[in-house]
Amino acid sequence: MAYEGKRADLPASAAVRTAVLIGGSGDVGRAIAAELGRERPTRMLLVYREDDAAAADALAGASAAPGSRVLRADVTTPAGRSAVAGAAALDLAARVDLLVYSAVYRRLFPALEMPLDEWRRSLEVNVTGFIAAIQELAPLLPRGGRVLAVSGISGVRVHSEVHLLMGAAKAALHHAVAYLALALAERGVSVNCIALGSIWSQGAREHSPEELQRFMHDMVAAHPKRRLPTVEELAPVAAFFCSPAAEWINGQVVVVDGGQTL
Ligand SMILES: NC(=O)c1ccc[n+]([C@@H]2O[C@H](COP(=O)([O-])OP(=O)(O)OC[C@H]3O[C@@H](n4cnc5c(N)ncnc54)[C@H](OP(=O)(O)O)[C@@H]3O)[C@@H](O)[C@H]2O)c1
Repeated sequence: MAYEGKRADLPASAAVRTAVLIGGSGDVGRAIAAELGRERPTRMLLVYREDDAAAADALAGASAAPGSRVLRADVTTPAGRSAVAGAAALDLAARVDLLVYSAVYRRLFPALEMPLDEWRRSLEVNVTGFIAAIQELAPLLPRGGRVLAVSGISGVRVHSEVHLLMGAAKAALHHAVAYLALALAERGVSVNCIALGSIWSQGAREHSPEELQRFMHDMVAAHPKRRLPTVEELAPVAAFFCSPAAEWINGQVVVVDGGQTL
């Protein structure tokens, strides 16, 4: 997939930061985009795999700076990744201050029956896409740049055997974050990860409204805070890791779950 675009008319000025959000149309990604846009003028590239309407909606809700756009690209393919790099070079004037990776592949299978092609797909989306995106965009990350992977607590603690596909891939992602932080530290770029706990309305797409209500009720009852966060409550944590204040946090996986894993 060759990227054909127009080079941004003006280089992004210091007042306008630039951000690539891979998975920026998802539940968490769109909340992070909105938070970044609220905080400071941010020219954004929102990357997604297939849902054009969701991506357009996320960008519309992000108060993104002029020059922002959505890009349909599968980051598990070389063509998709070079489309992202091409768009970053042209539309973000070859500077990526923030790279947020919030793409995910989630499926539940009993561990002993998990199809291995599903496992490979999980690794592709949940880990390889992240590593490859950094490799591709590294030349565009300036000193002070920030990379943030959005993950989940299944990569930190074992839930149940059906979480093998996502949990083991997330654990690999967490280790990749540390190695990539090491690789980029001297260039002044920080690489971190937030491992989120359960979120209010989680599973809204997979469950019927009645099932969802039951599911949420059980999760709330089991949570030490007796409530679950919304994505809007979690987005400022992501924004913090993208900020200059996070300079001395590097290579870390920070659990953001209100004590769920305690
Ligand atoms: N939501 C939760 O309740 C929750 C709880 C804990 C942790 N988390 C973590 O938060 C992160 C984001 O989850 P989410 O709920 O926001 O996921 P989501 O709503 O399913 O969104 C996933 C995003 O990734 C994009 N994407 C998927 N595969 C891609 C690919 N190959 N190339 C490019 N883009 C791709 C999707 O685009 P399309 O939609 O167009 O395919 C979408 O924008 C994940 O790491 C997840 O584990 C979420």
